[in-house]
Amino acid sequence: MSIYVWGYLKEYEIEKDEIFAAITNVLESGKLILGPNVSEFEEKFAAYCGTEFGIGVDNGTNSLVLALRALGIGEGDEVITVSNTAVPTVSAIVSAGAIPRFVDIDPQTYLMDTDQLEAAVSNKTKCILPVHLYGQCVDMDAVNEVADKYGLKVLEDCAQAHGAEFKGRKAGSMSDASSFSFYPTKILGTYGDGGMVLTSSESVRDKMKKLRFYGMESTYYAKEHGYNSRLDEIHAAILLGKLAHLDDYVSRRKEIASKYDSLLADSGLTLPVAAENNSHAYYLYVVRHPKRDQIMEKLKENDIFVNISYPWPIHTMDGYARFGGKEGDLPHTELAAKEIFSLPMFPTLADEDQERVCEVLKSILSALG
Ligand SMILES: Cc1ncc(COP(=O)(O)O)c(C=O)c1O
Repeated sequence: MSIYVWGYLKEYEIEKDEIFAAITNVLESGKLILGPNVSEFEEKFAAYCGTEFGIGVDNGTNSLVLALRALGIGEGDEVITVSNTAVPTVSAIVSAGAIPRFVDIDPQTYLMDTDQLEAAVSNKTKCILPVHLYGQCVDMDAVNEVADKYGLKVLEDCAQAHGAEFKGRKAGSMSDASSFSFYPTKILGTYGDGGMVLTSSESVRDKMKKLRFYGMESTYYAKEHGYNSRLDEIHAAILLGKLAHLDDYVSRRKEIASKYDSLLADSGLTLPVAAENNSHAYYLYVVRHPKRDQIMEKLKENDIFVNISYPWPIHTMDGYARFGGKEGDLPHTELAAKEIFSLPMFPTLADEDQERVCEVLKSILSALG
């Protein structure tokens, strides 16, 4: 039997009745867009994360674009972020009209190296966009300190960090606004696309509500240039049901991570490092080895399919080279991209599958010497 890095079918079997009931309720309610499920999910997810407001949108990429616009970031403004992230973090900055500026990552955690922030601030910098990658929070005290010093906005990209914490505060609650994705693979994911912006600012909330609805406050009159970027009732209803399981999903991920930690302790792989003060939610379990490509090839021969997040640093991609990035600029990011890979990680991963992954990995590693 093949083992994949992610799968939803077992979880779907367990939650099927709940999901069908949620969808049926929406279909029979007569209200398909911006109805009671979106409002209730916005309220409950914001409360879970510790912010005042949630604004549901159609995906995690647009939630970044709209949040940047709602924070007043636009044409010619610089936004400091990382190159070791999903492409949408950077595409959102560009879509908002702004310019991405990159700092390197910490080689242990693969997260934004906050010591490099201050040197990256220019007179065009308007925002810092830390990415809580793989389920682990960036040091938000350090980010906010630089932001306060230079009068910058902070937008957290929490697409991979539902339920993660830094010093007891939930991801998404430590900045001017934060952005979530509910793409199926995420820690809290729906059966399609979805996203949300969280904030405790009334003005950001009001602006977000207009931006996701053609720039309108009420129908047919645009107060400003906007988008159609709404979360729909069906996904909100599914997500409301799944939100009740979020803490269980996170604990199961932590359990799987700690089992990997012990089974692979002497394997020769570099295992993930949970940073001080963090409660890591393990969206991904990222390991590292200089012979990564050979290891992945052998795993595939054994029907084990792992993944790389991410194989190419964004500053070196053709799509973003115009911002001046080149090989050699971000050495830790570039080396990690050649060596990291992610092991199977999802709440319904079977114990025996996890054990098989570890046994096969250890035999590959001992043969490689
Ligand atoms: C870090 C990060 N930011 C943003 C996104 C974009 O989310 P979505 O796929 O919902 O547009 C993703 C998802 O791939 C992500 O992992």
